[in-house]
Amino acid sequence: MSKTIIISNRLPLQLKIENNKIEATPSVGGLATGMKSVHRDGNGVWIGWTGLTEEEIPADLVDDVVEATIEEQCVPVSLNQDDIDGFYYGFSNRTIWPLFHYFIEYAEFEKESWQSYKRVNEKYAEVVLDNIEEGDTVWVHDYQLMLLPALIKKERPDVQIGFFLHIPFPSYEVFRILPWREEILKGLLGSDLIGFHTYDYQRHFLSSVSRILRHEVSFNEITLKDRMITVNSFPMGIDYKKFADAAEKHDTAKNQSELQRRLDLHIDSTPDAKMILSIDRLDYSKGIANRIRAYEYFLEKYPQFKEKVRLVMLAVPSRSNVPQYQLLKKEVDELVGRINGKFASVSWTPIWYFYRSMPFENLIDLYTTCEVALLTPIRDGMNLVAKEYIATRTNKTGVLILSEMAGAAQEMSEAVIINPNNFEEIADALKLAIEMPEDEQIKRNKFLQKRLKRYNVEKWAEDFMHALHETTHKSDIVEAVRMQREREDQMLEDYKKANKRILFLDYDGTLRAFVNNPDDASPDDELIELVRRIESQENTEVVIISGRDRHTLGKWWQDVPITLIAEHGVWKRPIGGEWAVTEALKNDWMETVKPILEKFVDRTAGTFIEEKNYSLAWHYRNADPDLGEKRASELSTVLKELSANNKLGVLDGNKVLEIKDSTIHKGKAATKHIFDKNYDFKFAIGDDWTDEYMFQDLPEDTYSIKVGLQKTAARFYVDDTDRVRDLLKRFADN
Ligand code: ADP
Ligand code: G6P
Repeated sequence: MSKTIIISNRLPLQLKIENNKIEATPSVGGLATGMKSVHRDGNGVWIGWTGLTEEEIPADLVDDVVEATIEEQCVPVSLNQDDIDGFYYGFSNRTIWPLFHYFIEYAEFEKESWQSYKRVNEKYAEVVLDNIEEGDTVWVHDYQLMLLPALIKKERPDVQIGFFLHIPFPSYEVFRILPWREEILKGLLGSDLIGFHTYDYQRHFLSSVSRILRHEVSFNEITLKDRMITVNSFPMGIDYKKFADAAEKHDTAKNQSELQRRLDLHIDSTPDAKMILSIDRLDYSKGIANRIRAYEYFLEKYPQFKEKVRLVMLAVPSRSNVPQYQLLKKEVDELVGRINGKFASVSWTPIWYFYRSMPFENLIDLYTTCEVALLTPIRDGMNLVAKEYIATRTNKTGVLILSEMAGAAQEMSEAVIINPNNFEEIADALKLAIEMPEDEQIKRNKFLQKRLKRYNVEKWAEDFMHALHETTHKSDIVEAVRMQREREDQMLEDYKKANKRILFLDYDGTLRAFVNNPDDASPDDELIELVRRIESQENTEVVIISGRDRHTLGKWWQDVPITLIAEHGVWKRPIGGEWAVTEALKNDWMETVKPILEKFVDRTAGTFIEEKNYSLAWHYRNADPDLGEKRASELSTVLKELSANNKLGVLDGNKVLEIKDSTIHKGKAATKHIFDKNYDFKFAIGDDWTDEYMFQDLPEDTYSIKVGLQKTAARFYVDDTDRVRDLLKRFADN
C-alpha cells in the first residue's frame, strides 16, 4: 500500500537520556504540534531528527533510539554534533531564520555552515530514498530542508513531492541578499507543489523565482523545461477538537492541576482582576521584549488598571546555543525584573513569567483561565497559539489581541489586530480588550471558532495532499507528443527512405539557446559543421527561417550553401544566390510606430528596439520580468489599435514583440518555398509563436517539432536546444 512520507528537521517526539534510559517528550513548535494529528491518523512514516546527536547516544542505547521512534511510526536521521552546529544552529537558525523573518542584521553568511546545510540535506535525502516505495508521496517541511525536494526528485522523478514552508517567505528585496539564493530556489523547485501559509509569502516566492532564476511564471505555476510546479497558499489550521474537548473537560474536571489551583486562588482573592496571557517560544521574532515594554506603557497610560491586570507570560526555551537567543533571554529577564520592581505591591505582581516547557494540561489551564491573549510577533509565519486560544474558549468569551505581522491575522480579522511596533495602539487595544462587553466578545469569537473548526489541521493537510495529487506532469496537458527515441528512430527511417528532403530550422531558441545580447548568438563551429554535413547529403535542403535581419544571418552563414529566410519571410537568399525581397512591401508605417516603441524603451529599463527593413522588434528579455510582461501587454494593445488600419501584425515572440506587415509570416514563406516541389520528407522546428504559423501552414505529414513544453500546433516537442542538436547529429550521421 502506498504511503505518505513526512519529513521535517524535528520528529514529533524528542528523545532524552535519563538514567541511561531513553525518554520521549513531545516537540514544541507549530510544525510538530500541527502535523502530529495528521500523522497519527495516516499510514505513513515521519523522517526526522530525534534531538540526540550521535555522540550523545551510548552504543548500548542505539537500538532503543530506533525502537522508540519506530513505535511512533518514525524513522530517525542520524546527525552528529558538527551537523547540529553547522546545519541547525548555523545555517538554519543564524542565516535563514533571521533573514526570512526580516531580521537582516542578525543574519550571518558563513560558507562552512552553508556546506553543512548541504551535507545534512543530503543525509536526509539518503534516508528518504531508502524508505521510498513505488507510489509513495513525499511531503517535506520547513526551512531546514529546502534543498531536499531537488535531491529526491533527481533520484526519483516518478515520486510526487510536496513542500510546505512554515515560516514567512520574505520579499525578493530581502531574499536576494542570500549568497546561496539560486541553490535554495533550485532545491525547492524539485517539488511538484510548494505551499505557504499566506498569499503574500506565495507572491514573494514567485517573484524571486521569476527574477532570480528567470523561469516563466504564470499565475501560480512555474514552467520548467520538463515539468510544471504549482505554488499555492494553505493557511495551516489546528487540531480544533483536541483543544476544544480538552477545554470542555477542564471546566468539569475534579482533579485540578497544581497550576490551576494556584491560578484559582488568585482569581478568588481579586475577582475583578483580569489575566492577560502570552505564550511563545523565546524567539526574537515573537516580539516578547516589545510586548513587555508596551505593557509597561499601558500601565503608565492607564494607571486605573494597576492591581487589576496580570500578564501571564510563558516563554518556552528555544535554540539557546544561538547568541541572539541568549541575549533575548537576558533582555527579557531584566525587563520582567525591572517592571515588576517598578510596579509591584504587596498583593500584586504585574508580570508572572514562566521560562520553561509545560505539559499540555497546563497550556489548557492557561488558555481557559486568561480573559485576554496578547500575541505581538514582529514576524510570524502563522502563529498557532492564537488559534489554540480561540479554540479553548468554549463559552465564547475572551479577547485575542494579535499582531498584523502574524500569518494568522489574515484569517482572524475579528481579533483585535495591532501593529506590534505601535505601543499606543497596543495600550489602547489592551484597554479595549479588558473592557469589551461580553456579548461583543461572543460575537467575535463565534465567527473565529466557526472558521477554525471548519478549516482545521486535517482539512489543511487534506487540501494540500489533494492539490499535490492534482499536479500533473505538464506533458499530460500539452497535446504534442515528446520526441522520444522510438519516434526519433521512425523519423530517421523516413528520412533515409525519402527521395527529396527539406528541413526548416528556426534560429534563436532552436539552433542556439537565448543569450542576453542577441549579437552574441552567432553559430558555433559545431553547429555550422552539422548544418554543412546535412546539406551535403544528396537531395537534402536546409532552410534557416528566422525573424533576424538579413545582414546578420547573411554574415553568420556566409559560406554555407543553404537557403536563408530572414525577417519572417520578407527576405530570401537562395543557395549561392543574393538576398531579394519575396514580395513588394511597404515600410512607411515605421515612422509612426517607432516613436511609440521609443517611448516604451525610455520607460522600461533593459529593453531595446531592433530595426529591420520591413519590421520593428521591441526586445524585453533583460527587463524586470514583471514590468516587461506588463509593458508588453500595454504596448501590444496600443499597437493592435494602430495596426487595424495599416495591415500590421504584432507577433508575440519569446520576450519580443515584432511589428510587421500582417501578411508576412513564416508559414507563408515556408509553404511558398515548397510549392510545386515534391518533398517527401518535411521537417520544421522552432520554439516560439512566430514558428506556429509554420507548424499550422505546412502539410500535415511534416515532422513539426516545438522546442519547449508549450501549447503548440506542432505534432511533437523536444525539451531544449540540446535536444535539437541531438536530432541534427542524427540527421548528419545518416
Ligand atoms: P512556533 O511554531 O514559531 O513555535 P506557533 O505559535 O505556530 O509558533 O506554535 C507553537 C506551538 O507550540 C503551539 O502549537 C503550542 O501549543 C505549542 N507550545 C507552546 N508552548 C508550549 C509549551 N510550553 N509546551 C508545549 N507546547 C507548547
Ligand atoms: C518553528 C519552525 C519549526 C521548528 C519550531 C521549533 O515552528 O517553523 O520548523 O521545529 O519552530 O523550533 P526548533 O528549532 O526547536 O525545532
